[in-house]
Amino acid sequence: MNYILIVDDEEDIRDIYEMVLRRAFPLDVMLAGSGSEALSIIQSRGKPEIIISDLRMPDGDGLYLYKTLTEKKLDVPFVICSTDPVAVLQRKFPGIHGYIEKPKVIDSVVKLVDSVVTKHEVPPSYVPVRISFLLRLGTVHFELFMRLSDKKYVKVLNSDEAFIPSDAERFLKKGLSHLYVSNEDAEQYLNSVEQSISRASDYERCPSELAVMSLESLESVERLAHSLGWREGVVDAAKKAVNLAIEVVSTEPNVLKLFKQKLNDSHSKFSNHVGLLALLNCAFSYQLGWASESSQMKLGLAALMHDITLDDSYYENINEWNQAACSSTNKTFEVIKYRNHPVDAANLLLTIKNLPPDVDQIILQHHELKDGSGFPRGLNSSRISPFATVFIIVEDLINFIGDSKDFDERVDLFILERTERYNSGNFKKVFEVLKENVQKVRLKK
Ligand SMILES: [Fe+2]
Ligand SMILES: [Fe+2]
Repeated sequence: MNYILIVDDEEDIRDIYEMVLRRAFPLDVMLAGSGSEALSIIQSRGKPEIIISDLRMPDGDGLYLYKTLTEKKLDVPFVICSTDPVAVLQRKFPGIHGYIEKPKVIDSVVKLVDSVVTKHEVPPSYVPVRISFLLRLGTVHFELFMRLSDKKYVKVLNSDEAFIPSDAERFLKKGLSHLYVSNEDAEQYLNSVEQSISRASDYERCPSELAVMSLESLESVERLAHSLGWREGVVDAAKKAVNLAIEVVSTEPNVLKLFKQKLNDSHSKFSNHVGLLALLNCAFSYQLGWASESSQMKLGLAALMHDITLDDSYYENINEWNQAACSSTNKTFEVIKYRNHPVDAANLLLTIKNLPPDVDQIILQHHELKDGSGFPRGLNSSRISPFATVFIIVEDLINFIGDSKDFDERVDLFILERTERYNSGNFKKVFEVLKENVQKVRLKK
């Protein structure tokens, strides 16, 4: 079968291209992570209809791929894609089929492919999405389907349900590599996705002037990750995600100013709480397999912003404040202020332009509880988003550990005491993963 070849070292971007192209064209789409990988696919499958290639990649970049193909006299329409301006690309790659300037990839790629490949006669009702991509996203705001035949699809996951490794395994074991979303949902999703592409590609370029993480919180996170049985690399991934989140926060001068004031003292309770929470949230999300830049960044961003309107003094007795805010009888000014801090923070967040979706939900819901006894809205577990679920469990864990240095003991006790609390809906799914990791690492000892 003829095919389209996508070459990009960013997994997320490859998977988005695949979704876009399979939605529009009746052709197979092959994915390569580097120029060298692309060449070996061409060697085994023959010439593709068109190649869409990233410029900067390790192990054979876009220029290397293009030159090798030209030397071999393999005449394939070649499209180069980069954050560099088109004029620069034109100079490097004169006379090729097309140029795409990131992040505006979606319309451009469809147009460029359309000039060599014929589109679907009738647009498909369902669009394939790679299972590994769904896992990296962690959650989707649409229903997922499994394909039984050309015309028959069955629903396998509700919208806003957490997608965790055991879900992925269930389908991969059946030999499936993709699940499906409705064409309308795919369109909606793809419309919202370009912003995260630009963040992922721009990240390396602008180091931030804000530092939220003290060395102590980094060290605590390393030790906690170890005690929780999280794999190597989670903390590094978390650091990257938190930096990305800081960069987003820094784009809004008023928010940046507020942060600078609050983070002036890197030993303040606020800095420690926010730093620890941001890192642990991102690390746990990565451990859950929710490894896309945007999923982790959302949790990091929510952690940075969630308590931004609170004074440091609240942290002295945070558990008491939480209890007071949950009880509807206590109406002192301080308690009301505390009860409203998720709403205040979410409102402030909305002043940041180009915010990724979901972050305001996480912040609004970070004090909700499974049984509807939380605040500010008293939601029950079915209405709490998967990302907020992770956030709530992680913050609960941090408060539970408190000042104790015996992480193993506190973590084990947490698992024991909270199993009942987190026993339904997304809470259960996420908590089970936490529990399994701890059990595995304790068995090894
Ligand atoms: Fe907090
Ligand atoms: Fe809070």
